[in-house]
Amino acid sequence: MSGIWGNNIKYSIFGESHGEAIGIVIDGLPPGLSLDLEDIRFEMARRSPGKTSIETPRREKDEFRIISGYFNNKTTGVPLTVLIENTNKRSKDYEKPKGILRPGHADYTAYMKYKGFQDYRGGGHFSGRLTAPIVFAGAVAKQILRLKDIYIGSHVNQIGNLYDERFSINNVCKESFENLKKMNLPVLNEKIGERMKDLILEVKGAKDSIGGSVEVVAINVPAGFGSPFFDSVESILSHLMFSIPAVKGVEFGSGFEISRMRGSEANDIYYLDKDEIKTRTNNNGGILGGITNGMPIVIRVAFKPTSSIGMCQRTVDYLNRSEVDLRIEGRHDPCIVPRAVPVVEAMAAIGLLEFLINDI
Ligand SMILES: Cc1cc2nc3c(=O)[nH]c(=O)nc-3n(C[C@H](O)[C@H](O)[C@H](O)COP(=O)(O)O)c2cc1C
Repeated sequence: MSGIWGNNIKYSIFGESHGEAIGIVIDGLPPGLSLDLEDIRFEMARRSPGKTSIETPRREKDEFRIISGYFNNKTTGVPLTVLIENTNKRSKDYEKPKGILRPGHADYTAYMKYKGFQDYRGGGHFSGRLTAPIVFAGAVAKQILRLKDIYIGSHVNQIGNLYDERFSINNVCKESFENLKKMNLPVLNEKIGERMKDLILEVKGAKDSIGGSVEVVAINVPAGFGSPFFDSVESILSHLMFSIPAVKGVEFGSGFEISRMRGSEANDIYYLDKDEIKTRTNNNGGILGGITNGMPIVIRVAFKPTSSIGMCQRTVDYLNRSEVDLRIEGRHDPCIVPRAVPVVEAMAAIGLLEFLINDI
């Protein structure tokens, strides 16, 4: 089923962008877990729109309500269900495209799969808004991972042709992750960050959009998580990353660059740090044979430019079987990458928790 994922902990996501509410059911959490609800609110606020001029002015506070599985401030062990009401829906903006296929969106594929019964308003179940419950689940997963000293951090790696510095073995620690979390456009090099913001505003002015990528890293993941074949750490994590709307590429460690290296450059050389086995480089992104090797897990996730643009585009009206001009009126992000940062972290946390629970 497309809306349910997980073996040890099962996640079931539901709702539509302009329906009553969206949410997630998390089944399999251990009982007796105290959740830091303020921390979850902070994570949700990182994703919510309308904070800066580079984001959509659609304001959604993303207030959540836990309706089951939490009693006396502790998880009970039965399914934890969270609801996030849709308080700011301006369906008017989304009425026009009924029957009109928005280029880059899932309108055509949804129509074919759901035979015209889909809630098409604002993208319905395909909307980026459905990433709010994922951030909720990721915040819960991060809290459990933290109990084992595992931390996840990320930054905007690239917008268009502008690249931030990369994470390296030497610049990843939980303190730097905390600093990045406080930034609206989290980058390691703030000068590049300013140029990225200018570029996003320039593209917005032209009624266009732009893509980019997010780099996420997990530290203190013990060696030995994962399996050689179908449940390799890369398989599980990339499966989850590709479940984020607008993701078109995922790479680990040096990623596609490793294919241009010689073996002598690509091999991560082992050494002993006191009694610990480490590698001097991390081209393999902390994973060998599908199994973690104790080095930081490094993933980069590529996002396409926002599909909804104000420019006029030619398309098809499937109800009238005619070709038409389309200009999208709604409120959209010229670049979704900054808002996708906590979503990428959440997916990394959900994936790693699956391995951690396996290991306990
Ligand atoms: C956090 C987030 C917010 C998004 N917001 C928008 C948006 O405002 N406008 C838009 O056209 N696409 C947005 N998207 C992407 C679309 O939902 C996505 O491109 C579309 O459903 C088609 O799916 P696909 O790109 O995965 O094929 C967003 C994605 C994410 C992760």
